[in-house]
Amino acid sequence: MKRILTGDRTTGHLHLGHYVGSLSQRVALQDDYEEFILLADVQALTTHFNNPELINDSIYQVAIDNLAAGLDPEKVTFVQQSMIPAIAELTIFYSMIVTVNQLSHNPTIKTEAKNYGYKELTYGFLGYPVSQTADITFCNADLVPVGEDQIPHIELSRKIVRKFNDLYGTTITEPEYKLSAVSRLPGLDGNAKMGKSLGNAVYLSDSQEVLAGKIRNAVTDTNRISVKIPGNPDVCTVYTYHKAFNSEECDNVSSMCRNASIGCVACKKLLAEKMNSIFDPIRERRHYYEEHKDEVRDIIKSGTAKANEIGNRNIAEIKEKMHVVI
Ligand code: TRP
Repeated sequence: MKRILTGDRTTGHLHLGHYVGSLSQRVALQDDYEEFILLADVQALTTHFNNPELINDSIYQVAIDNLAAGLDPEKVTFVQQSMIPAIAELTIFYSMIVTVNQLSHNPTIKTEAKNYGYKELTYGFLGYPVSQTADITFCNADLVPVGEDQIPHIELSRKIVRKFNDLYGTTITEPEYKLSAVSRLPGLDGNAKMGKSLGNAVYLSDSQEVLAGKIRNAVTDTNRISVKIPGNPDVCTVYTYHKAFNSEECDNVSSMCRNASIGCVACKKLLAEKMNSIFDPIRERRHYYEEHKDEVRDIIKSGTAKANEIGNRNIAEIKEKMHVVI
């Protein structure tokens, strides 16, 4: 079986952008690949170094979000990033061959820095794609299922691995990415991206009522100031959600909007009901794991131990090839 590694920063609950961009795909692929899900607590420190308690609690929350989404702990390996020495070591080795220029031109880094309001970047933040390369390669993952924003990172990973293998004669796998069908979900406010730091997200942990309330307040076609005038689904945030979560009905919704036979209130109600029916089983599983945190802890601990067996073996071989072993 080919190996997948993907993961999330542990900075709080995951939102629907994560769900459509990544989680749903992880669930779909778990039978056909050996999957590693990284709880990226070191990467979380790149933006939240002043709040380590939040990161600690979020390790559980992110694991629970993944389990609730439908990942089977019997099939999937959960890995706590900070507990894998091979990742830290590889990060240092890779940092010798990646250039500052490569990092500072990364469009995702630029966008994130802007969203966080950073005037100056820390070494760790600028360099997190290097550490992410180590995440992916410590276990020689073949495939990384991701959302669109992560593509520049995987492309950089491939360059780093190629150069590293050329230099040292190692055989580290050059990872490929796999984009999900819906690779980006806009925020409730119409911003191109849903994001925790943007305050425009629906969370997997939101209740039925909270979800319905958020959808009710979401931005639609701003030119549609009355029910009587036709709307334009192409510029409507709520319509993009219909496409992501209500694909069976979305063509119908589109034509009803265009000929003004449905108003935004009814359209949003339809969407919220559909979304709640999708997320109800996820809420149920979340409830179970919230009540069984010890089980979640065991899943993370045993997964991390398994990952370390692989990582320790691989890093020993890499160091041998690099001639750093005396
Ligand atoms: N950067 C990813 C995100 O922000 C999280 C992540 C960390 C990741 N390490 C990874 C994703 C390795 C894929 C592979 O969502």
